[in-house]
Amino acid sequence: MKTNEIRRKFIDFFVTKGHKEVASSSLLPANDPTLLFTNAGMNQFKDCFLGLEKRPYQRATTSQKCVRAGGKHNDLENVGFTARHHTFFEMLGNFSFGDYFKHEAIRYAWELLTNVYQLPAEKLLVTVYHTDDEAFKIWNEEIGVPAEKIIRIGDKEDGSSDNFWQMGDTGPCGPCSEIFYDHGDHIWGGPPGSAEEDGDRFIEIWNLVFMQFNRDESGELHPLPNPSIDTGMGLERIAAILQNVHSNYEIDLFVKLIEASAQAVGTQDLESSSLKVLSDHIRSVSFLIADGILPSNEGRGYVLRRIIRRAIRHGYKLGQKGLFFYKIVPTLVAEMGDAYPQLKEKQQFIIDTIKDEERRFSTTLEHGLKLLEADIAELKGDIIQGETIFKLYDTYGFPVDLTNDIAREQNLTLDMAGFERCMEEQRERARAASNFGAERLLDLQVDQETIFHGYHSHQLESNIATILVDGEAVPAVSEGMEAILVLTETPFYAEAGGQVGDTGIISGDGFEFLVKDTKKQQDIFLHIGVVKSGEISEQSVVAAKVDQTRRDLIRKNHSATHLLHHALQSVLGDHIEQKGSLVTDDRLRFDFSHNKPVTFDELQNIERLVNEAIRANSPIDINEMPIDDAKAKGAMALFGEKYGDVVRVVEMGHSIELCGGTHVSATGDIGLFKITQETGIAAGVRRIEAITGGAAVEVMLQQSATLHHLASTLKTDHAHIENRVDQALDEAKSLRKEIAALQSKLVFASRNEILNSTIEINGVKVIVADIKGADNRSLRELCDNLQAETAGITLLLSEVEGRVALVSSVAKALTDRIKAGELLNIAAQEVGGKGGGRPDSATGGGSEPAQIGKALETAVAFIKEKLQ
Ligand code: ALA
Repeated sequence: MKTNEIRRKFIDFFVTKGHKEVASSSLLPANDPTLLFTNAGMNQFKDCFLGLEKRPYQRATTSQKCVRAGGKHNDLENVGFTARHHTFFEMLGNFSFGDYFKHEAIRYAWELLTNVYQLPAEKLLVTVYHTDDEAFKIWNEEIGVPAEKIIRIGDKEDGSSDNFWQMGDTGPCGPCSEIFYDHGDHIWGGPPGSAEEDGDRFIEIWNLVFMQFNRDESGELHPLPNPSIDTGMGLERIAAILQNVHSNYEIDLFVKLIEASAQAVGTQDLESSSLKVLSDHIRSVSFLIADGILPSNEGRGYVLRRIIRRAIRHGYKLGQKGLFFYKIVPTLVAEMGDAYPQLKEKQQFIIDTIKDEERRFSTTLEHGLKLLEADIAELKGDIIQGETIFKLYDTYGFPVDLTNDIAREQNLTLDMAGFERCMEEQRERARAASNFGAERLLDLQVDQETIFHGYHSHQLESNIATILVDGEAVPAVSEGMEAILVLTETPFYAEAGGQVGDTGIISGDGFEFLVKDTKKQQDIFLHIGVVKSGEISEQSVVAAKVDQTRRDLIRKNHSATHLLHHALQSVLGDHIEQKGSLVTDDRLRFDFSHNKPVTFDELQNIERLVNEAIRANSPIDINEMPIDDAKAKGAMALFGEKYGDVVRVVEMGHSIELCGGTHVSATGDIGLFKITQETGIAAGVRRIEAITGGAAVEVMLQQSATLHHLASTLKTDHAHIENRVDQALDEAKSLRKEIAALQSKLVFASRNEILNSTIEINGVKVIVADIKGADNRSLRELCDNLQAETAGITLLLSEVEGRVALVSSVAKALTDRIKAGELLNIAAQEVGGKGGGRPDSATGGGSEPAQIGKALETAVAFIKEKLQ
């Protein structure tokens, strides 16, 4: 059975059991800072388990893209060393949100494996959490698995357990029951719980998690509102079994990828474990890039970089020193593009991004490897020193796990403590990068979400739901106190989707509260600010009033951002994807994927298109609709953004985006759009900053004032400025030439006088002279000319623009007695400088012209000494 068919059969089976087929979510976890990458099928349902989100179905089934390379579940370093580990894999799952529980989950799993996939029951064994008698009984009595094939697994020393699953340090979790397949006694390994369990004989294929708890930041477990089911079966592992092969790398999909990798690297040795690494890594790398992650030096982007660099090193190991990794992409797209159309759409972008990264690393890889080899050759013990690891990391871009990989291949270990010591500064950055810890949330005792009216009104009457000071609810606050007010209804927009929060005033009987910012937690709006006057109590009735002028500026910038996004795609291409956005009252900032700087002409075209859209004065049309309708309309959505079933669609002209922000009523309200800056902020990510309305007009006026000033200084008009400037520059150039010629003439005018000053020391003609006002070039010319006459020793000094120029020449026949460089240095030291060159000719500079006389004397004395 082919992999594609196995995936389909799984989904179809659960659909017949009343499950809703749901698409895989992005690898970039939606709004979940506790997670590095999507690492399990349940991630997209986290809030359903926690009871925070209700969906129209209680049973779901998916085939989910997962990456386990960093964070809590990390398999990166095992890839290539075992038959079953991957950085990227597909997880098949069925889920129940408070609907069925252990009985059905176990029964479904058994039916699918033994009936649909027709696995022989005697090849299967299962584990349960050591205290889970209920699961044990179901397996034993209802399913008929013999007791000796049901293994109870307890806790490890650190308190964790293979049979207690959790998504991360916090979040939904529970005991689990795993199903194992016995690949046969010709393969080394023991059953789960035994000392040999890490071998490849008994392979876990399916994990049934009985979700019962939510773990909080302090580690405490709280029961979930309803017991639920989360399961995960590795598609590649079940495919290996159904295709009668032992290793995942022998299934249909991987056979193709390994062949493509071998071809890209140029090797015949299909057994090399490096090819497994490449065929695994091309999947995680391509899928991550397709989901909008780019190689960088921090966070998720750094994990991607590490995977790519590890792949490049394995290619190098097989003798491939050029760019090669990107060449595997087309095969991957051919194999998986039907199941994941994004791969097809992004193929070229994926290739370009990988190529770029290969180019970046290939220059330092070789040097780094040489350094490491030399270090290993001289190694006394079997530990690679921290300084070496650091140098490889810092200078050659070797991620530590790459160095570790190489060390592991040679049975060496790393001195990580030493490395950490060297890392003081970089560690700060790394910590910030891996800072995926959950943000501290306020403990809000508010049972109702805030009703937001701000799309249509700027002010309204409302009641106070709670008052917070330092995160604690208080009954009242008075003048001068900083506080957060939560209202039952509000016109204030809370920071979201790049748009900043509103500011304004909340006032009532005898008090005024200055709102400096508005944020939200879930759907509760937090008005953050300070009591300006009076006292506010929980019972107060308030008038909430947004600073409308500021809000109007924000609206202009937000609508302009949509027009800019669309114009970028028209001018630069469809690969443009939003990477970040900031919309404030005084500017807009938009980050997007693009591999090179945007040229001046392109920028002008973008500005032109946006301003055309503004002049078209199209009305802004905002509608709520089911997400599927929005997608069918072609609305642009963001990767990693979580959208509900009903979304808000903002249309203006040709732009259609999902957006919760506030907008003008027709594009004409924006007035004018002007780009102020274009820069690169990370590999493959560019940033455009722009302004609109009155601010844009001001910048235009300023530019025009600059032109006006230039024109009047150059005594011309706007239309002729360019010509006039070119002309002035040409003039300056020919004047410079003339000056140089004159200078050299001037210098040569003193030639005879200087020749007359020639002295003879022990039969050698020596000229040591100060030439007034000669630059380096004419000084050198004069020196050569004098030497031609004297065939002796010449040293010339000159003051130019407050500095000293020095040149010297020594006839070849004399260089064994005195060298031009030495002589020059002796003189240069006197004028606070230095110089160098060949034995017969040298040049230098100094900074103390007042010492020229002294330098001449010292030089003569030196020559006398040498010629004695
Ligand atoms: N979430 C469970 C796992 O990843 C099924 O193993």
